[in-house]
Amino acid sequence: MVLMACDLFGGDLKEAIKPALAIEFFHNFTLIHDDIMDEAPLRRNKPTIHTLHGINTGILSGDGLMLKAYKFFEDLEPEIFKACVRIFTHTGLLLCEGQQYDINFETQEDVTFDDYIRMITYKTGVLSASSFEIGALIAKANFKDAKAIFNFGKHIGIAFQIMDDYLDVFGDQAQFGKKHAGDIYENKRPFFI
Ligand code: IPE
Ligand code: MG
Ligand code: MG
Ligand code: MG
Repeated sequence: MVLMACDLFGGDLKEAIKPALAIEFFHNFTLIHDDIMDEAPLRRNKPTIHTLHGINTGILSGDGLMLKAYKFFEDLEPEIFKACVRIFTHTGLLLCEGQQYDINFETQEDVTFDDYIRMITYKTGVLSASSFEIGALIAKANFKDAKAIFNFGKHIGIAFQIMDDYLDVFGDQAQFGKKHAGDIYENKRPFFI
């Protein structure tokens, strides 16, 4: 998504590769910690990190990936560096907020459709949104265009999470790569429950 947005606005793809890796490392950090929170045994058809190495190593390797992610922004020119790190940090905080809603909803009696959309916007939508925005900023897109592609990414992320929640229950485990109906075991609140 970083590379696509950079390309779309005529930027130099070489400048976007490390920031794209930042997003990739960050994304994998969130998945390792998410698998601990969700007690997920499988991802990509392989045992999850904490299943193989224990929860403490899962926490630490996630932390390490997050810090390594920040280092990938180091080569950007100061103004763009500042903007990217600001978006990236803000995204991380919103993602934590979304993950907390996800946990709260496991035991919350009333969860409205709007609550669900807010939760998935924060835990998933903002990361794809900011991936596009960061790519656009590296290409020196103007503020209005960067915000427009941010919104596009947000909606892609929301759609992705709706599909993920659907496939968790109705998908084929071998293809999906995660424990069948893991969300049901964990009392998650997808849009159809
Ligand atoms: C997790 O949502 C989103 C984040 C990692 C922030 P899910 O818990 O549904 O993701 P999967 O199904 O484990 O990949
Ligand atoms: Mg999960
Ligand atoms: Mg989760
Ligand atoms: Mg899921």
